[in-house]
Parts: sequence; structure tokens; C-alpha cells
Amino acid sequence: MHCLGSTVRTALLLGAAVGLAFPQSAPPGIPIDDQLTIRKCGGCHQRDSKGMMRRLSYMRTSPEVWEQAIKRMIRLNGLAITPDETRAVLRYLSSNNGLAPEEMKPGFWEVEHRTIGYQDDYTPSPVLQKTCNACHNIGRVLAQRRTRDDYEKLVSMHIGLFPGSANTFRPQPAKPGSAVTAPATPRATPVAGIAMEYPRVPAAPASNKYPVDLALDYLAKHQPLITPEWTAWRAAMRPAKLAGTWLLSGYQPGLGKLYGTVTVAPGAGEDQFVTTTAFTYVDSGKSVKSTGKGIVYTGYNWRGRVGSSTAPVITSTVVPTEWREAMMLSRDGNTMEGRWFWSGFGELGIDVKLTRAGSEPLVTGTDINAIKAGAKATVKLYGANFPATLKPADIDMGRGVTVTKVSAVTPALVTVEIEAAANSPVGLRDVAIGRSTAPESYAVYDKVAYIEVSPEANVSRLGGVKYPKEYAQFEAIAWAAGLDGKMQTEDDVYLGAVPARWGMEEFVSTPDDDDTKYVGSLDDKGFFTPSVEGMNPKRKKQENNQPFNNFGDVWITAFYKTPEGAELKARSYLVVTIPNYTLYDQPEVTQ
Ligand code: HEC
Ligand code: HEC
Repeated sequence: MHCLGSTVRTALLLGAAVGLAFPQSAPPGIPIDDQLTIRKCGGCHQRDSKGMMRRLSYMRTSPEVWEQAIKRMIRLNGLAITPDETRAVLRYLSSNNGLAPEEMKPGFWEVEHRTIGYQDDYTPSPVLQKTCNACHNIGRVLAQRRTRDDYEKLVSMHIGLFPGSANTFRPQPAKPGSAVTAPATPRATPVAGIAMEYPRVPAAPASNKYPVDLALDYLAKHQPLITPEWTAWRAAMRPAKLAGTWLLSGYQPGLGKLYGTVTVAPGAGEDQFVTTTAFTYVDSGKSVKSTGKGIVYTGYNWRGRVGSSTAPVITSTVVPTEWREAMMLSRDGNTMEGRWFWSGFGELGIDVKLTRAGSEPLVTGTDINAIKAGAKATVKLYGANFPATLKPADIDMGRGVTVTKVSAVTPALVTVEIEAAANSPVGLRDVAIGRSTAPESYAVYDKVAYIEVSPEANVSRLGGVKYPKEYAQFEAIAWAAGLDGKMQTEDDVYLGAVPARWGMEEFVSTPDDDDTKYVGSLDDKGFFTPSVEGMNPKRKKQENNQPFNNFGDVWITAFYKTPEGAELKARSYLVVTIPNYTLYDQPEVTQ
């Protein structure tokens, strides 16, 4: 992986990162008093009389980042630790040196394995973009709270382990008179699979600071070790009491809305649980039932795992049989929100909300996305504890929409007939029964103004031989123009996914490369399955007639015929690329 001999490396890192640089006047740290952590880590991370352990007392982070660090301790530093001990240390550190919910939230998408559209959008400052987002997701950086001194050691660790990072952190100007103005050839980083081109030597920044110093200034100021959020959460944190029945409402791109229940029972220890999950997709009527388990870290951080270990065949119509769960528990302990994900990269998944079922009527949503003003519809309302005596007047479907009849009631499902007045305002509606409200459950619209393919750009990875395929699900989303009558403005109203005719078109970057023939296939539900990785003998480069692989970029197109007979078209850009040879993934935290 890199060229330092292991003895040299260990000595260098211990010196640079753990031992020698202990500051004269120690900054405030977080005492560590867990015997197992002290026994396992204290040999190298010395503990002083105040309970401060080197490095560990000066950082806080998510369970995933703690897990990654422990793995490196095993891999590179010779830490001997059993899986059970690792779990115990991980739980302790995630509580004692964890993140407050508000601190976890900005990078939670990484834990949820959401990848598309999050990388750049969630980088809070340009000074992190060029330095800390160059090789990996910014999510793990946002999950850090450290002293400045410890951030500096993190940087030393990077330079020690991945010497290439020095060029990103502190690009060196060319010596006067030297002919070389930039690194002669872009080198691959020692991190397999992440080929990086180093920037050409930039002019010295006006502040005379290197990019890494600007990043350090930012991190020390905006993500310090001690924060009001953590002081507050440490005091408020308590063991999660989750046992009971939770109502599930979810949305799976491609398969649509789903409703069901998750029954949570106590598990092997405090903050550990076993689950029974059952849900049904409203569109297909297909049901899923499975059992699993979960752990809560830091009082709110749910990590779960469901299902068997047999890898299912993945297509657009197959329902999941196993998945991982990442959710955040609300402070009042009554809702959990997050994502359940599966497949090689967690690229397929369900956005979920769990609401604790009490004894009062609770409504979680409807089976429809939208109704046209002036139209009638039969609508199902999902929830719990619906009384058999429910009358139309007990159900509020929002402005301009009348319930004309309650046709059927069970405790978990009400079927109603509704009518939307011709002059109902266009927009999303809440549904309320008793004191319970399901916000933004469906829309009333005047006309479908346009469609969009979601996501607007996507990545898929070749695979299936040695590496997993990364699939891509597209959806055609309909929009109404809103009150201003103009398309593509802020007040447009989301009308949900509509059935579309799907196609693939050449994106002209390299002439005649026939990407659409090689990259993979798209089914009639907008689900893209990439081709296999490796050289394809049937595909030859024009210049030299050598075989090359199936990567490429294409347009994914959707056509939709509106009820009024107009044909709407939209497209998304898809890059189909090579496998990801290194993965940032810590599946152990769900065990
Ligand atoms: C055999 C010596 C050794 C043991 C035992 C050890 N570490 Fe480390 N640790 C190091 C060295 C060396 C570094 C600095 C280089 C690095 O970051 O890999 C370090 C750095 C770290 C860091 C800082 C990484 C970062 O993100 O900046 C963390 C966190 C850490 N160790 C956690 C642990 C935990 C938790 C344990 C006990 C379960 C442990 N270590 C046990 C040697 C050790
Ligand atoms: C040259 C590529 C590269 C750059 C640039 C880079 N990182 Fe990393 N970083 C890595 C790799 C690779 C790992 C995984 C280390 C391992 O295997 O445990 C990592 C791990 C981490 C971790 C997890 C800590 C741990 O103990 O494993 C944090 C936090 C982190 N980086 C923060 C940063 C920050 C902050 C910056 C910007 C100052 C940055 N990274 C820039 C490659 C890079």
C-alpha cells in the first residue's frame, strides 16, 4: 500500500501522533474511566492522573469513525482485541466521546449511505472542499469534534500513512530557476482505487497559509471539542426505552410508498434490541416480514440489521430480504427517522419514519400521491387505533377536500371516499384524525406542468465478477406549477412518481463509442443494471483496436403521457464507472 517499512512507520506515528507532542498546558479534555478501554488502549494512549488519555480524550465522533479508527489500530498498530471487546469499547466511546444529535445530523447522510448529490452540497466551507473532500466523503469530517492540537495530529496521521496527502495539504511552490512547475506526472495515491490528480502548483494564497492551515482554522473554530450541544446532550442522554410497537411509513424510490409496523423488544443488553418488521408496498401489494436487531449509541443513534445472509437477486420488482438500518431517535423518544439500505453500496433503500404507537388514534399517511382539483377518489389512510365509529367529520383531509364517506375501518386502515373541490388551492395536504396529523400526505393539483427524472445525475458501477454492481434507480417525478403558474420555481408542487416509458440515449462525449450498447440495461421501472467489470473483448478502442471495458456515460430518458394527453419528457445524466475498490463502510457497528 505504501513504502514505509513497518518498524519505521510505527515509530514515526507513535512519535508524531500519540506520544511526543503532548502539549505543555493540556487543553480541556474528556476523562476516560472505562476499565476495558483503559486496558485495551492505555498501553499506547497513556492516561494521566486526571483520566485524560492521549488522543482519545481530545476527540469526539460517530460510532462509524470510532470503528474505523479501532480497525486501523488492529491493522497497523498491532492492537489485540476480540469482537466482543471491540463492541464494548465502541459503545463506551460513542457515549462518552460521541456527538450530540445536532452535531450528528449534518453528516448523517453518510451513515445512511446516501451518496447522490450529498458530496458537494454538504461541504460547509470551500476550505474543506479542496483539502478534506479530495479523497473521501466529507461526512466523516463533519462528524469530528476535536481540539486544534488533535486535528493537527489527524493531519500528521494522513501524511504519515498516505504521503500523497502532503501535496494536497501543503503544495510546494517550484524552486526559483527550476524548470519543473508542477509534479511531473500525476501519481496515484497509495489508496487503491482512488486515482487523484494533484493540482498544479497554485500561487501562494493571499493569507500565506497552506490549504491545510485554512482547513485546520475552520475545523478548530466550527467543530471544537467542547460545544454547548455536547454539554447539554451529555446531561440529557439516557438509555433508550424503545420496547413496543412502532408504526412504519416509508418510501422506496422505484417501489413507492409502504406502511407497516416494527415491534421492538429488549435484546442482549442495555441499548440492544430485537425487532420484527412487517410492511406492505401500497402500489404492488407485496409484503415483507422479517426479524432483526438493533443497537442505540449515544442515546439516539439507532443502527440495525435485518434478515438472512443470502444475497438476493436485485431487480426493480424484487422486495428486499435483508438490509441495514441507520436512524436517529427524536429527543422525546417517540419517533425515529432515517434510512434502511442494501446492495453492495447501500445505494438501494427506503426512507423511513417510525412513530411509537400509543393508545390514541394515529395516522401515518395515505396511499395516493396526488388528486386533481375537481376529482373524486377512494383513499386509504394508514395508522393505528382507528375507532370503528369513525365518521367523515372525524377526518380532516385538508383545505378544499371533503370526505364524503367512510367505507371501511379496521384499527390500522381506514378507506374513505374524497372529493376535491374544483377551486381547491394547489399544494400539499396534511391528513388529521383526532390529535394525530400526517404532514404532507398528498397533493391537490390543477395540472401536471412537467416531469423531472430523479436523481438528476447518478452514478452506477460495473461489477458482478469480483466486485458488487452498483445499481441505479430512476424515477419520473411530476410537478405542478404552483400559484405563480411558472415552471421550475420555488413554489412548484411535488406530485410524486408517475409511470414512464424509459430509454437510454447516447451522451456525446467520445464520438461513436456506443455507450448505450455496453454500459448496461434499463428496465421499464427506471432501474438500471450495469454490465460486468473488466475488459470486454467485443468492445474495441478506435485508435488502437484494443479491447476496453464497459464504462461510459448516457442520458436516461423518461416519457410520460399526462391525463390531458400531453407527452412530457425529461432526462438524467448517468455515469457508469469502474468498481469501487475501497469502501468506507463499518457494517460491524450494527452488531
Ligand atoms: C499498539 C499501540 C496502540 C494501541 C494499543 C492503540 N492505539 Fe490508537 N493509536 C496508536 C498510534 C500509533 C496512533 C497514531 C497513528 C494513527 O492515527 O493511526 C493512534 C491513534 C489513534 C486514534 C486517532 C486517529 C485519528 O482519527 O486521528 C484513535 C481514535 C485511536 N488511536 C483509538 C484507539 C483505541 C480506541 C484503542 C483501543 C481500543 C487504541 N487506539 C489502541 C497506537 C495504538
Ligand atoms: C490523500 C487522501 C486524503 C486526504 C486529502 C484526506 N484524507 Fe482523511 N483519510 C484518508 C484515508 C485513506 C482514510 C482512512 C484511514 C484508514 O484506513 O483507517 C482517512 C481517514 C480519515 C478520518 C477517519 C479517522 C480515522 O481514525 O480513521 C478522518 C476523520 C479524516 N480522514 C479526516 C480528514 C480531514 C479533516 C482531511 C482534511 C484536512 C482529510 N481527511 C484529508 C485519506 C485522505
